[in-house]
Amino acid sequence: MARQAISPARSISGSIVVPGDKSISHRLAILAALAEGTSEIRNYSPAADCRSTLDCLRRLGIAIESDAKGRKRTGQVDDAGNTPRVEIQGAGLRGWRKPGRTLDAGNSGTTMRLLTGALAGQSFSSKITGDASLRSRPMGRVMDPLALMGASISAREGGLAPLEITGSPLNAIEYTVPVASAQVKSAVLLAGLFAAGTTAVIEPVRTRDHTEIALAEFGAAVRRGGNRIEVAGDPRLEGHHTIVPGDLSSTVFFMAAASILPGSKLMLLGVGLNPTRSAILDFLVQMGASIRVTELAVQSGELGGDAEVTSGRSVALRGGRIAGADVARLIDELPMLAAMGPYTEQGVEIRDAGELRVKESDRIAVLAENLRRMSASVEEYPDGMRVAGRKDTRGAGLRGADVDPRGDHRLAMALAVAALGARGETRIRGAECVAVSYPTFFQDLNSVAQR
Ligand code: S3P
Repeated sequence: MARQAISPARSISGSIVVPGDKSISHRLAILAALAEGTSEIRNYSPAADCRSTLDCLRRLGIAIESDAKGRKRTGQVDDAGNTPRVEIQGAGLRGWRKPGRTLDAGNSGTTMRLLTGALAGQSFSSKITGDASLRSRPMGRVMDPLALMGASISAREGGLAPLEITGSPLNAIEYTVPVASAQVKSAVLLAGLFAAGTTAVIEPVRTRDHTEIALAEFGAAVRRGGNRIEVAGDPRLEGHHTIVPGDLSSTVFFMAAASILPGSKLMLLGVGLNPTRSAILDFLVQMGASIRVTELAVQSGELGGDAEVTSGRSVALRGGRIAGADVARLIDELPMLAAMGPYTEQGVEIRDAGELRVKESDRIAVLAENLRRMSASVEEYPDGMRVAGRKDTRGAGLRGADVDPRGDHRLAMALAVAALGARGETRIRGAECVAVSYPTFFQDLNSVAQR
């Protein structure tokens, strides 16, 4: 496994065009495959997870041309000046074919959960699996509502993949999601396309709404009011030309780096700013970060813009606490926020976030262990953690260390950023896992880290 060495940096400066949003890319690919006619998706995410979705769709008989795969550098524009483009020949709602082999979702929870929703109402059976991490993550949360719709899905004991999905006619339901999860909501809405009548999902707190936006873009009848979303069954989805904004959750690593290192000035170009994702900006600003958003525009139903992050000569981040409804709004950013703790005055505390234990790794345990290796002072709770700030540690700061994110991409990136302000070099084991969401992360980080 590759070890990536990160040496400390003085500051961050330059600009980055972040790769396409992972969540949005999955949804556009699946809906394009269910639509009639050709769809073109520009700035499709180069993440391995999104390639898993394309690979599964190909196994379901969908013709896909993609130039996102062999791209050498990050961003919306490749060396030839083109945006990475995926062209999908939709087969229509009932046009997918029984796969000859098991579908492989790799490391991607979104691929497995969303496709399970879309496969439940098909007229064929299928099987979907994933890597060891994904095979240990809870799938009962999608199996339960889909069973209420009449789906027949079996799993290993404890609701673990592989899942065997026997396609069957589905009924519309009204479902209150017990855990705040955009993936569960999306699985039910996608299954709702195959149900007779109108399917309704009620969320405990609002989660990312990319599925709702994409459904509307492709011509489905979706209605949203408060935390309730409805979709009508049996729509005619139409192929569509869309563009994916940059992934805000990937951008956050750079925002954090530029906020913890003094004298930084960084431009992030083409960033997705969907309000159900952008709570991180408010939180960073509340912590004392300086972020200016410009060039706001809506494309394919999604808000995007550019963000400039600057820091003064001496950095004074306050720190903060994340709990309750904020957890769902910041779910993918929590590892980075926790790892910023030692760079803040009061530290960072995260509560009500037991969900972090069933992500690509147990993000609470693995992050706590690694931050401690870097000399951080960390308290771990069943539902979160507290990473002490300068006040508690008398400004002791982090020290470079050997760390192991256990194959979890977001932890590898969060530790890399924490390492920029540490004393001495940090070595990240298995660092190639960043490809799960951001294949060129280390090149991009090196291009803006001033040493
Ligand atoms: C995602 C939803 C979130 C998030 C994941 C992507 C999505 O998961 O953590 O990285 O694309 O819908 P949950 O819905 O399980 O919270």
